[in-house]
Amino acid sequence: MAGCCTSVCDFILEYDTPRIVLIKNKTVGVINKMVQVVILAYVIGWVLVWEKGYQAFDSTIGTVTTKVKGIAITNSSPFEEHVWDAADYVIPPQQENSFFLMTNVIVSKNQVQGRCPEVPSKTTRCESDSDCAAGFHDSQTNGVFTGKCVKYNEKVNTCEVFAWCPVENDAVIPEPAILGEAENFTVLIKNSIAFPKFHFSKRNILTNANTSYLKTCRFKQENDPFCPIFRIGDVVHEAGEDFEKLAVQGGVIGILIKWNCNLDLSPSKCVPKYIFQRLDNKNFRETVSPGYNFRFAKYFNVNGTETRTLFKAFGIRFEVEVFGQAGQFDIIPTMINIGSGLALLGMATILCDIIVLYFLKKSNYYKEKKYKFVDDYELGIESEDSYGAIQNSRNTN
Ligand SMILES: *[C@@H]1O[C@H](CO)[C@@H](O)[C@H](O)[C@H]1NC(C)=O
Ligand SMILES: *[C@@H]1O[C@H](CO)[C@@H](O)[C@H](O)[C@H]1NC(C)=O
Ligand SMILES: *[C@@H]1O[C@H](CO)[C@@H](O)[C@H](O)[C@H]1NC(C)=O
Repeated sequence: MAGCCTSVCDFILEYDTPRIVLIKNKTVGVINKMVQVVILAYVIGWVLVWEKGYQAFDSTIGTVTTKVKGIAITNSSPFEEHVWDAADYVIPPQQENSFFLMTNVIVSKNQVQGRCPEVPSKTTRCESDSDCAAGFHDSQTNGVFTGKCVKYNEKVNTCEVFAWCPVENDAVIPEPAILGEAENFTVLIKNSIAFPKFHFSKRNILTNANTSYLKTCRFKQENDPFCPIFRIGDVVHEAGEDFEKLAVQGGVIGILIKWNCNLDLSPSKCVPKYIFQRLDNKNFRETVSPGYNFRFAKYFNVNGTETRTLFKAFGIRFEVEVFGQAGQFDIIPTMINIGSGLALLGMATILCDIIVLYFLKKSNYYKEKKYKFVDDYELGIESEDSYGAIQNSRNTN
């Protein structure tokens, strides 16, 4: 019992502390202070102030709705005089975080199921019926070959197909784009965001905007960066593209809404920033399948016969993307960053120890002062003793 108490009592009643060696050497002293200053500057200047190490962060969650407005009038083919409104050129009427605006179109009116000549191409041109294998079809043809060779026009014969007739001929894309007036259309982008961690939410329609302002304002990167109404032509221009060229073949444009907020400041300082960027490959010359297009049809009945009008729509898809993060003072990251900064100060000691013990002329002298050398001699006795103890215990057994 007594022996057990001595060690426990010693532990409780004693205090041990490392001994510090103070070395009066100018070089090492200056180096040590300089390293400490650099580390403090890094911790305070970079980690705490610049990288806002005193804040906790949260990323944006948000939702987007869009509404396109504008009227286009065309009086060339495919229709004599035709007015296009949003219900005609926004396809589909509503999408998640994006909208498609038709800018160019190839219309094949009043198609019915039947037999008619195929559009001329390498595989469909023919001299006689024997050039057209009945039943042949592949991904390039508009229908199934009937086995006949018929007149396509005065000069060319092509194979007859069973298909939606007359078949679409999309060899020539209208230029300039049929709905070139879309350049002057506008889109209202409504975006609500939240930083759930900080119970903060906001809209991109700022609180100082009133109804009359919203009716007339147009987004301009320099003059009016908070107006949520965008002219399509401006968006395309900000993305570094030429609307007239883009409208012909179509493409994809990104509208990025960035919310980077410091919630330690006033909430009115938390404002969106818009970035515009073309997202698809823009080099028409180098691309095999350029632009963006798809087909859709409108079906109706003419005297009991199913009839359709086929549209090959070219246009611009706008993808609206919301991202960002907010920071607010929080004691936990602050303490963690200060703590790890203090730990870094230990680097200065390690560095100076290396210099003192290995690189200075008097390093042996300093080594002697820093370490208390203990001979191995005593250790040798001890091990012999323990060897004897083992021997003794064997003997008693
Ligand atoms: C767009 O509007 C402006 C001014 O209202 C007009 O001068 C211009 O011709 C229009 N652009 C197109 C493509 O219709
Ligand atoms: C709306 O706001 C604009 C400036 O943002 C201001 O000039 C105008 O007077 C306001 N109109 C009303 C009705 O408050
Ligand atoms: C529909 O049928 C009626 C009577 O059979 C005919 O007079 C009319 O021209 C037809 N309409 C079309 C579009 O074929």
